[in-house]
Amino acid sequence: MIGELQGKVAFITGSAGGIGLGMARAFAEAGMKIAMADVDEVALEESAAELADTGATVLAVPLDVTDRAGWAAAAEKVTTSLGPVQLLCNNAGISTLGLKFGQITPELWTKVVDINLNGAYNGIHTFLEPMVAAGGGHIVNTASFGGLFGSIPELTAYTATKFALVGLSESLRAEVASDGVGVSVVCPGGVRSRLWRTSMLARGVAAEDAVPTGVGGQSASPDGMDPYEVGLRTVDAVRNDELYVITHPEFRAGIVYRHDQLMAACDRGEILSAQLHPDSAPAAAAGQLVEGLKGTTPPKQ
Ligand SMILES: NC(=O)c1ccc[n+]([C@@H]2O[C@H](COP(=O)([O-])OP(=O)(O)OC[C@H]3O[C@@H](n4cnc5c(N)ncnc54)[C@H](O)[C@@H]3O)[C@@H](O)[C@H]2O)c1
Repeated sequence: MIGELQGKVAFITGSAGGIGLGMARAFAEAGMKIAMADVDEVALEESAAELADTGATVLAVPLDVTDRAGWAAAAEKVTTSLGPVQLLCNNAGISTLGLKFGQITPELWTKVVDINLNGAYNGIHTFLEPMVAAGGGHIVNTASFGGLFGSIPELTAYTATKFALVGLSESLRAEVASDGVGVSVVCPGGVRSRLWRTSMLARGVAAEDAVPTGVGGQSASPDGMDPYEVGLRTVDAVRNDELYVITHPEFRAGIVYRHDQLMAACDRGEILSAQLHPDSAPAAAAGQLVEGLKGTTPPKQ
């Protein structure tokens, strides 16, 4: 696993503002060198300069996470300037909050999937192999509470990508633990950020119209958590190699509700199995899979 953070290199996408910048600050305070990547070059330069002013080692890397060639160039730049990347935070994302399914055009669907999900794939594709070759590291994917609880209307495309990021993180973690790479997935509720503005711009809304009244300025969550706190909680998860980062435990009821629905569906499945296959013993395959996983999850203190 990544071990001591001091002096190691973090690559954080979507770090010109919001949660990514909160992560950049928190990992810089932990002594890491920070490569800040974002498609918004103006905000990126400002935020990188501000973080560098605190004494942190910072490199601004203009990058559109959907651009695979751009990822290769960014990796080259960071590795040459700061050294091998041992922490990758796939954080860049946009939201489709407030759009009914019928309002999501094929173009917008593709864009959301490209940024939120394929962007994370591109990051892992770029950095996992060198990370393993260098002896280990850690990958953080920013999903959302909406990646754990899907019963939220007018959020389908976003929720689809965030559930996918949770699945990607769970499966990847089980796969790469033996290579010395940890994986965490951050699932925040409301966080004060520029997400509303970022998402409106990505939807093609003109800049002057991208900050509607009544939505709290640039944020979709004006009363939400300070992004720096999400950063601190992410540092804790990386240090302790935790899979899930639940920043808003007050939303526990949503997770319990979904879990209860799944358990009820299992109960119904068992009743139907007994009716359809009255002579069969219950399959033990899933239990064996969970037993096998125990060996890939480091013991907790
Ligand atoms: N703010 C919340 O309440 C909240 C809650 C749950 C999850 N999230 C997730 O947190 C992550 C960060 O969002 P935020 O809330 O900090 O919003 P934000 O808009 O402040 O930050 C997102 C950053 O991603 C960048 N970005 C967008 N498209 C990009 C691309 N193609 N390539 C590179 N960079 C790109 C933007 O320029 C911006 O700086 C997102 O994945 C979002 O889905 C946010």
